Amino acid sequence: MDKMWAGRFSKQLDKLADDFNSSIRFDCRMYKQDIEGSIAHALMLASKGIITADDSSKIIEGLTSILEDIDSGALVFDPNAEDIHMFIESELTKRIGDAGKRLHTARSRNDQVALDIRMYLRAENQEILEMLKTLITALRDKAQENTDAIMPGYTHLQRAQPVTFAHHILAYAMMFIRDFGRIKDAVKRMNSSPIGSCALAGTTYNTDRYFEAQRLGFDTITMNSIDGVSDRDFCLELLSAYSVLMMHLSRFCEEIVMWSSWEFKFIELDDSYSTGSSIMPQKKNPDMAELIRGKCGRVYGDLVALLTTLKGLPLAYNKDMQEDKEAIFDALDTVKLCVSVFTPMIATATVLKDNMYTAAQKGFINATDLADYLVKKGMPFRSAYKLVGETVAYCIRNGTVLEDLPLEKFKELSDLFEEDVYTDISLEACVNKRISEGGTGPKSVQTQIDYVTEFLND
Ligand code: ARG
Repeated sequence: MDKMWAGRFSKQLDKLADDFNSSIRFDCRMYKQDIEGSIAHALMLASKGIITADDSSKIIEGLTSILEDIDSGALVFDPNAEDIHMFIESELTKRIGDAGKRLHTARSRNDQVALDIRMYLRAENQEILEMLKTLITALRDKAQENTDAIMPGYTHLQRAQPVTFAHHILAYAMMFIRDFGRIKDAVKRMNSSPIGSCALAGTTYNTDRYFEAQRLGFDTITMNSIDGVSDRDFCLELLSAYSVLMMHLSRFCEEIVMWSSWEFKFIELDDSYSTGSSIMPQKKNPDMAELIRGKCGRVYGDLVALLTTLKGLPLAYNKDMQEDKEAIFDALDTVKLCVSVFTPMIATATVLKDNMYTAAQKGFINATDLADYLVKKGMPFRSAYKLVGETVAYCIRNGTVLEDLPLEKFKELSDLFEEDVYTDISLEACVNKRISEGGTGPKSVQTQIDYVTEFLND
């Protein structure tokens, strides 16, 4: 097939070079955006008298029929086409003749690709934002059901202080709310129309870029025609936001994997989100969580790949930039896939409250509370801290725990101890006494749940 630009050449492009150059196999997914952009362009050209109203109607009719045929499967993408933009333009000319050849007046493929990818990502990210809301809703509900589930909170993966499972889960809800904000911000910043940059320098035609921008749902136009076609910051911003989101999912998955083990047994994943082993009949593996954790790596890879591709490019468009699409599409698909599996996986998991409670009873996680008890009775914190450290050491030596020490022993250590020490260091008391904002106490947890609900209703 002759290339549209064949006029300048006396030989056909080598077959391998042609395949190497072509992007249709991955940019075909932007066909709707390409057609919508072209319809807006035809309308603009006619409104400014650059083409006739008759040609514009023919173009729009032709493009609409192409869209219908692609949607219905009557028209399939030609793998030999150079890219989606060329494919649609040549199909249009096949269908309507000369009018089709007028469409490319006052625009360039560099504008088209910059336009299409923005529009495509805008739509896809609306979906991701909705999916994140569903995920955050599931976490809010899980938190609500588990405000009474006491578990060990950890630092250094060592039992540290008791927290509720609700509090722990809400930490992730906060992270996902920020992820939502980062993606929303990136989409907002991306929403400027580059169409009409005309390859790089603008055009001699009396075009109306605002008309096209408005028609295509953009907030404004890109202010500089060189920037309009060269900028891929929006892909990088999204890839960065996706990387952070995947990192959050991955940390959560790591905990899910641990919690599903016999060593923890804090949760049991639903059978519909677990797999078995080909040899060990007893196994129930958290494959989904592991896969999500694993897929985080490829999203980081996509970010680094595109950063590296762009770093040495002179202005304006260079073919290297075609590499943006595989990176951003791969990351986008991965994020959508992971969130859509993660949400029902966590929503259907059974929380094993008793096991959490049993684990919380071990590991002296009420030691801070014992120190606070002494502080309230008048002892300086550092002295209380030291005395409790010695008490813990005593318990370890004698195979016992703080709440089981007899009162005489406590009194031997300090005469500030009284009968009320036992109620003060119970796990329930440790949680309920944490009254500071943002803490694991019931009032703070309810405030957090309300905050998440407000976000969801926004
Ligand atoms: N397929 C190209 C891409 O994805 C479209 C723009 C090509 N422009 C050009 N002048 N070669 O980047």
